Amino acid sequence: MKESIHDMPSLQNAKKRTRAPIVFSREDLVISSRLREFARGKRYFIRTYGCQANVVDSETIAGILEEIGFVSSNQMEDSDVILLNTCAVRENAEDKVFGEVGALKNLFSKNSKKVLGICGCMAQEPHVVESIRKHYPQVNLIFGTHNIKHFAQLLDEVLFENKKVIEVSSCEGEVIENLPKIQLEQYKAFVNIMYGCDKFCTYCIVPYTRGKQRSRLKEDILKEIIDLKEKGYKEVTLLGQNVNAYGKDFHNEESFATLLEEVAKTDIERIRFTTSHPWDFDESMIEVMAKYKNIMPFLHLPLQSGSNEILRKMGRRYTIESYLELVDKLRKAIPNIALSTDIIVGFPEESEEDFLCTLEAVKKCQYDSAFTFIYSPRIGTPAAKMNDSVSRVTKGERFHRLVTTLEESIAKKAQAYVGKIVSVLVDGPSKKDESMYSGYNEQNKLVHFKGTPDLIGKIIPVRILESHTYSLIGEVVHE
Ligand code: SAH
Ligand code: SF4
Ligand code: F3S
Repeated sequence: MKESIHDMPSLQNAKKRTRAPIVFSREDLVISSRLREFARGKRYFIRTYGCQANVVDSETIAGILEEIGFVSSNQMEDSDVILLNTCAVRENAEDKVFGEVGALKNLFSKNSKKVLGICGCMAQEPHVVESIRKHYPQVNLIFGTHNIKHFAQLLDEVLFENKKVIEVSSCEGEVIENLPKIQLEQYKAFVNIMYGCDKFCTYCIVPYTRGKQRSRLKEDILKEIIDLKEKGYKEVTLLGQNVNAYGKDFHNEESFATLLEEVAKTDIERIRFTTSHPWDFDESMIEVMAKYKNIMPFLHLPLQSGSNEILRKMGRRYTIESYLELVDKLRKAIPNIALSTDIIVGFPEESEEDFLCTLEAVKKCQYDSAFTFIYSPRIGTPAAKMNDSVSRVTKGERFHRLVTTLEESIAKKAQAYVGKIVSVLVDGPSKKDESMYSGYNEQNKLVHFKGTPDLIGKIIPVRILESHTYSLIGEVVHE
């Protein structure tokens, strides 16, 4: 099969940041009539890996596919367009994708009018694209995070010119409005407030895969939230790699605090946001969080490490002292706040002392939940050139000690809910037991209880009877 290469990824270009103004575009979809014709009665399947940025991209890609005329399927086998929207943040995320692509080989040799596409953050990595071209002939479409707007044209070329198409741009990126979107959930939605990242933490691939930090216009964000509210949505999560840097690229008065306040004034019932970078967090954000009841008392505040030396090598721009001071201020201003975090163990040259500083910080912070990772070198990042000196065994051991320490506070925080009444936005029944329902409380803790279908999408009071480390068990309070 002939290859049609529109654009190839380059880490060199991906790393560039210029002062060029950000382009805001309102795209009109271009869909050929032969593609619409073809799509009739055909199905698509998207598997999404990684973070919420990818979830929203998948919603957009699904929106484009449905606009063309495809219908969604929950089975790969009977789908005509299969897409893997990938994550590059750690090696194990990438391994899963290669495993999946390998397993799909047979499905594709039988039928040529099928599309197997790879998109998302892995597509932005030159070595991944090379490896797919070399070892996975069944993949006939590769497109990057900046190329979603051309997806319908790319699909047309694969299907009707019988080519293998690659379009991955490594650019700073635009802010694109107006693309269609199919929301996966009916009561909770993710709303992008910004794209990209300019922090360049030394271990992280995201600034290379997602481009420059660029904020959406406030009017567009508020319009999206008001529309969601009118459709009956109860909760929005404002998304960005660095939400509290919102508006910094506008060079005016706009900030995350001013945006958050206006979002709160829309009166949507629940507002969450992620991810916050401790360096960009200021007093005005704390004040707004404390002032509005519909801003949930929950904050994901990645620590990464408790050692100042490691934080410096990671390029995190804060010290453990300033992080702890921020936690203190948050807890004073919002006493019922729940905190969650991300921590990496085994960063290059992390000593036992450095690691002990992390354990100590974790004890002081008393987190309610946490994501823990073993450091994974990413090609093209500065840390990949550092001495990855911590042995596999030591990394595993530290990971285990960290999780044990974290679980002490997580279990204690969960235990404190027993006997209390919390409000829960009901998601739906559990897969294993139809009579058991679940949802999250304001502090983002998972709650299970006996329920009925009419409760789905409602915010209800639940009395907590029992706690586990990662979830609570309760009963619905009937008023
Ligand atoms: N923008 C967010 C999230 C980025 S990715 C933030 O700044 O926190 C989510 C988490 O993955 C990071 O917080 C970090 O803990 C982890 N991570 C990123 N790169 C990693 C790597 N190379 N190895 C291990 N963990 C990594
Ligand atoms: Fe990665 Fe750091 Fe940006 Fe988060 S802030 S996406 S960890 S570079
Ligand atoms: Fe992964 Fe890309 Fe998100 S690397 S964590 S999917 S921004």
